[in-house]
Amino acid sequence: MKLDDVRADLSAVLFTEEHIETRIGELAAQIDQDYADKSPLLVGILNGAVMVMADLSRALSIHCEMDWMAISSYGSGVASSGVVRILKDMNTSIVDRHVLIVEDIVDTGLTLSYLIENLKSRNPASIEVCAGFRKPEAVRNHVSVKYLGFDIPSDFVVGYGLDYAGRYRNLRGLGILSPKVYS
Ligand code: IMP
Repeated sequence: MKLDDVRADLSAVLFTEEHIETRIGELAAQIDQDYADKSPLLVGILNGAVMVMADLSRALSIHCEMDWMAISSYGSGVASSGVVRILKDMNTSIVDRHVLIVEDIVDTGLTLSYLIENLKSRNPASIEVCAGFRKPEAVRNHVSVKYLGFDIPSDFVVGYGLDYAGRYRNLRGLGILSPKVYS
């Protein structure tokens, strides 16, 4: 789905597909360097991180493995519920592995903080985060994202894996959802 297909639902376009592709390529180059000879385990957070994971992993020149977790977040609304729960755990042991959590977006950072603490207790060799997008509240909460695509405003956004009520995940760019769609 292209930005033009849902242009009427968006109050602004933040990034085109090309914009995102370029930035993901830059992050991959950084990860290639930092993880040379380390074969990182990329842990994607379902469902939103599917696009970042697919593009990032294919942009890497080094070997990596991939696994997935599902964490509860917003349900179908647009405000954080504050409730964090593991809905699906990964299949791989992370003991002594270099883990790179792949997230779609960091908003309050609640999900990520919980996840990092949880994964740390499983004794990985290292643990870092790669996220497509970050909102200002995460910066205020000092949530550490080593590999970041873009900082964005605190509006509710859709596209590139991010949904509203299950829709727009397949949108190729990223846009601010017009409040008329959810109010
Ligand atoms: P946090 O725990 O507040 O950082 O929220 C993280 C999760 O909330 C993300 O992984 C997304 O699934 C979801 N989320 C946060 N902001 C947005 C948004 O603007 N659009 C769609 N989903 C979002």
